[in-house]
Amino acid sequence: MVKTDQKATAQLEKPTTFDLNSYLKEQKALVETALDQSLAIGIPEKIYESMRYSLLAGGKRLRPILCLATCRLTGGSTEMAMPTACALEMIHTMSLIHDDLPAMDNDDYRRGKLTNHKVYGEDVAILAGDGLLAYAFEYVANKTDNVAPENIIKVIARLGNTVGAEGLVGGQVLDLESEGKTDITAETLSFIHTHKTGALLETSVVTGAILAGASAEEIIKLTKYSQNIGLAFQIIDDILDITATDEQLGKTAGKDLAAQKATYPSLWGLEKSQAEAEKLIAEALDQLASYGEAAEPLRAIAKFIVTRNH
Ligand code: FPP
Ligand code: MG
Repeated sequence: MVKTDQKATAQLEKPTTFDLNSYLKEQKALVETALDQSLAIGIPEKIYESMRYSLLAGGKRLRPILCLATCRLTGGSTEMAMPTACALEMIHTMSLIHDDLPAMDNDDYRRGKLTNHKVYGEDVAILAGDGLLAYAFEYVANKTDNVAPENIIKVIARLGNTVGAEGLVGGQVLDLESEGKTDITAETLSFIHTHKTGALLETSVVTGAILAGASAEEIIKLTKYSQNIGLAFQIIDDILDITATDEQLGKTAGKDLAAQKATYPSLWGLEKSQAEAEKLIAEALDQLASYGEAAEPLRAIAKFIVTRNH
């Protein structure tokens, strides 16, 4: 039995009538439809097929769902946030296509299917990633309605910052450089994760709030919420790489150990890693206190992050 912080555990075990499974299913269906409609097959067909292959390969759609939920929570609507929600998934998908390439993690499976380069070849996979990245920005600029133009510009700038060297790209570079090194510190590991995965999760939540015109005070609380769930998400990912099966993950388990990657369990052990993730989630829940019932989706998502097994 994993030892945990009692206060954090009590927060996580508070009874709720909110049905997260139905909520995620319904929200995911909304996002899947919007994603399918966002990108039609054009010419040359091969590149569009490759982009659609990865964009529509399933996945939890956590980033778009967070963006939509936060926009509604802070006074906006689903429609206002949907183009950004789709763009977040386009960016996430392109980062995974590139991450799986032989020059990076050299993975054969993603979301239970062959990786993009295994189906379309490395050249097309690189271009499919580039195509999705560019299209994400075009899509937000062209398709966002009923939002003040200055807020649309803020969202576009924020997305650019999240993707670039200050975000995903910077985190990925340090991650690749750290591979095989046995002396990675907790600070380096935290830098990698806050940039490589945390930044996009944070931006998913914050862009939802920006689109709705939320106050600076709300954005500060939601930023803290998203930073905590982002880090907890990564810690749990590291734990699952050790404890879950290939089937549960839809990708190869045990890869971190095989690649001698520094992970939270390798630094802290499984027990402390689990306890730390639970503490982060409890603090994330504290940020939502002023919202009452309306924040149930964000609360339930936070709890799901530490209790998931895939
Ligand atoms: C998966 O991590 C990879 C990421 C979350 C992002 C990687 C970022 C890039 C490849 C940069 C992309 C380029 C741009 C322009 C955004 P992982 O390998 O730890 O997880 P996995 O087991 O799911 O592969
Ligand atoms: Mg990888």
